[in-house]
Amino acid sequence: MTIRAVVKGVGHYLPERVVPNSEFEATIDTSDEWIRSRSGIERRHFAAEGQTTSDLGARAARAALADAGLVADDIDAILVATSTADLTFPSAATMIQAELGMTRGFAFDLQAVCAGFVFALTQAQALIVSGQARRVLVIGAETFSRLMDWTDRGTCVLFGDGAGALVLEAAKGAGTAADRGILASDLHSDGRFKDILYVDGGVSTGKTGHLRMAGKEVFRHAVEKLAETAHTALEKAGLSSGDVDWIVPHQANLRIISATAQRMQVPMDRVVVTVQDHGNTSAASIPLALSVGKQRGQIKPGDLIVTEAIGGGLAWGSVVLRW
Ligand code: UT7
Repeated sequence: MTIRAVVKGVGHYLPERVVPNSEFEATIDTSDEWIRSRSGIERRHFAAEGQTTSDLGARAARAALADAGLVADDIDAILVATSTADLTFPSAATMIQAELGMTRGFAFDLQAVCAGFVFALTQAQALIVSGQARRVLVIGAETFSRLMDWTDRGTCVLFGDGAGALVLEAAKGAGTAADRGILASDLHSDGRFKDILYVDGGVSTGKTGHLRMAGKEVFRHAVEKLAETAHTALEKAGLSSGDVDWIVPHQANLRIISATAQRMQVPMDRVVVTVQDHGNTSAASIPLALSVGKQRGQIKPGDLIVTEAIGGGLAWGSVVLRW
């Protein structure tokens, strides 16, 4: 008998304001055509003034709890993957805990930038498998619009705000790849690449700062590393690309998503793509795509899913799970 961390519920929240590519044409030297053809992005959502990451995360959490048929006090732990917590501290997770009216358990943030949700899934699984928690709410929530330099056309057109959440629950499995739940994962980071994707602010600078990215460099690493980590995780689970029902990738760039699928020899009709509607929402992009993929009727119980992501650090990894 093996303890598995199984998905009980999923949900998401997107801020009301939708910004089409054309809106940037008035303020910077760009075009809808450039943004679409280079990134696949058509629109993104931006949080309203005063709307914070924990506000978005709490809404996604409520949706996931409702989907699971649970209430906040049924949860033992909340993990929030984010790089845009409302304040330096306390964590967005404890703010969400309070917002949900959850009076028990524990909550903390985890920061691995765009790979944050993949890292958070593995930590939630570890809490469940080690018996420290039976049910974990795993949230990816971001307001990257707060980090944009609106004069930098190479970055400000690419990112968006949003949140997604999963409820994971301990369940008994047979210990085979036919089990539901998280089956394997593969995590990496390499701090030597800190200068190609970072925010030039933080406690050492006295200001929040802006996101800086050497896009081409990051692109090159993404295409090289994502298929490799997905293969490794599948191999650890005793599976291969041919077993995959859905790749649910980090949604940064459609060209990265399709190059990764191609390297994995998985056709694009088995890839959940939301980048056109959300832009890059960093740690929120995978749970958003899982939730939207379920809503669209793409993801069904029993489906084998591979998630993969890469971001600042660099940090990257993948998780194989059966829905
Ligand atoms: O989530 C974390 C991980 N992040 C990523 O995965 C992002 C990875 N990188 C990318 O997605 C792509 O590299 C970008 C979408 C950022 C850029 O696409 P690219 O094909 O690598 O373009 P580029 O940076 O090489 O720029 C090509 C040209 C440049 O002009 P010159 O030097 O050829 O004259 C840029 O200045 O496009 C120009 N450019 C723009 N033009 C119109 C850059 N941004 C824009 C813009 N509108 N918004």
